[in-house]
Amino acid sequence: MSNVFNPKSEIFKNPAFGSMEEYKNLVEKFDTDYEGTWASFADEKIDWFSKYDTVLDESNAPFYKWFEGGKLNVANQCVDRHLATKSNQTAILFEADNGESEHITYGELAIRVNKTANMFKNEYGISKGDRVVIYMPMIPQAAVSMLACAKIGAIHSIVFGGFSSEALRDRIIDAQAKLVVTADGAYRKGKPYMLKPVVDKALESGCECIKNVCVVKRNNEDITWVEGRDTDYATMFENQSEEFAAEPMDSEDPLFLLYTSGSTGKPKGVQHSTAGYILWAQMTMEWVFDVKSEDTYWCTADIGWITGHTYIVYGPLAAGATTVMFEGVPTYPDAGRCWKMVEKYKINQFYTAPTAIRLLHKMGEDEPGKYDLSSLRILGTVGEPIDPPAWKWYYEEVGNSNCSIVDTYWQTETGGHMISPLPAATPIKPACATFALPGIVAEIIEADGSAVQTGEKGFLCITKPWPSMIRTIWNDDERFIKSYFGDCKKDGKPVYFSGDGAMMDEEGYITITGRTDDVINVSGHRIGTAEIEASVKKCEAIAANAVVGKPHEIKGEGIFAYVVLKDPDSISKEDLIKEINKILKADIGAIALCDDIAIVPDVPKTRSGKIMRRILRSIAKGEEITQDTSTLEDPSIVGVIENIVKG
Ligand code: WTA
Repeated sequence: MSNVFNPKSEIFKNPAFGSMEEYKNLVEKFDTDYEGTWASFADEKIDWFSKYDTVLDESNAPFYKWFEGGKLNVANQCVDRHLATKSNQTAILFEADNGESEHITYGELAIRVNKTANMFKNEYGISKGDRVVIYMPMIPQAAVSMLACAKIGAIHSIVFGGFSSEALRDRIIDAQAKLVVTADGAYRKGKPYMLKPVVDKALESGCECIKNVCVVKRNNEDITWVEGRDTDYATMFENQSEEFAAEPMDSEDPLFLLYTSGSTGKPKGVQHSTAGYILWAQMTMEWVFDVKSEDTYWCTADIGWITGHTYIVYGPLAAGATTVMFEGVPTYPDAGRCWKMVEKYKINQFYTAPTAIRLLHKMGEDEPGKYDLSSLRILGTVGEPIDPPAWKWYYEEVGNSNCSIVDTYWQTETGGHMISPLPAATPIKPACATFALPGIVAEIIEADGSAVQTGEKGFLCITKPWPSMIRTIWNDDERFIKSYFGDCKKDGKPVYFSGDGAMMDEEGYITITGRTDDVINVSGHRIGTAEIEASVKKCEAIAANAVVGKPHEIKGEGIFAYVVLKDPDSISKEDLIKEINKILKADIGAIALCDDIAIVPDVPKTRSGKIMRRILRSIAKGEEITQDTSTLEDPSIVGVIENIVKG
């Protein structure tokens, strides 16, 4: 095998998988008894209040049900059940932007969760099934609020703090939430930034469902206060009881919603279940991160994304580890911040996105060498394909060629990892997600289910239901079926299609080749081209537009718009970009800004009026056009656009 890196077995003690042999054995076990094997993990890992009746119910596919009849509570699984043995162990290790730290033990966390659950229930009338929107910075109260919702059985919907008031408002309305939990703001790069004004603006129109806003005072900057609606977290929290009886939840009760972009229409509220989700969150923590009770584990994601849900809060706490929560950014005060934190807290697992790795590599190539990083065993990446140079730097300079890199492939919809190396077992190849985890049946196929040749690209499908899979799109069962079970079939039966392409090499290693649909992955954030185009269209001067992803050195992909002007000489390119970005910032947020545009006389359309984005994608990438252009209304437009883009 070429270019393969074997795990350094001496750095692992009792890993879940010590060899590929063990991996293959478990895959085989799932093969022969799928449900029985899942049941054995559910029995071993979950602290059931009462046991389930059935393992998997497929009678109403694709609305699969797992562990029906079982009762449990995720806050109990993550906190209370650990109290007998870990009351004094740090559960959440918070590092603020300014470097101060706070250690919250499991005992203290239990008290905070209970007091917050009492506050949500008594002060805001939140009960089982109610939706709570969390729009928070990376501070411990965010994690506590999630767990408090879980304890009550309320459904949280976290909206990433970088989203605009419009985006926040749409998500509040779609979920018909009763309460928003937020903060005045927080600190970034030594300066305060604000969140509460965004909430105020969102609530100005159409959010009648919201009865209260609960505000954590973090930076104590001036904010406006709406009497009767806004309440102060700390004051309310103070007098609550430290006891709260966990709501016994059904396995299939929703745990949370998380909105994500699709290739068409508005963002969709991905709905996750209780039992299946927490089971896989915990199992993958133990398998992929080899997390042990005494480990200090750090995932740099924001809790506003699925990675923050599963791998900052639910997974690490269910596994009983110490999870680091970081308010700041990796490049402040300098590009050595992360490595300084690894040294300071003796971090064992470090999990981040390729964008961050590329940025840290570029800004601080030699920074890792200045710190003692010998506590690290595992380095993780997630969110987008990682490029070999970034991978190599991560492996050699950060990991000192000693750590295992886990390139974890998964999605908001999958709840947890799907394809990933097992750190003490899998010989890894750079920039390769390697193999599907045991229990996950990932196949690369054509849309009709036929096999794809080795080394050829195909559609990445998960062809058997798994416990942590998306249950539906909130309030839109039809869109759920169409989005995930509408494109690919296996043996005539619809199967889950991820939206990603992938290929397998001769040794069975899977490499993810990226989205096959109209979703752009900007710095690991999913943004639908349809959403961006709808906003760009609002620009006065623009008659038509088409948006694609364009390779970007740091972000992976950047947003590139082809625009057709109503009057070609009415505005300069620079002014137009400013206009477009003003609208995008207001509609979506600063994560969705356009990097560049091309002003073109027209966009390539088929005779039926469909924009051929594939051609535009190729042009943006500077690729040769191999697509058939004969079906276009005006094939000559392709050459014209190519010349404009090439300049
Ligand atoms: C992409 C993030 C390559 C993929 C957990 C997927 C990846 C989308 C990888 C999901 C990886 C995620 N290698 N691509 N290791 N991990 N992706 O929902 O396109 O924010 O569909 O979930 O990110 O993004 P999401």
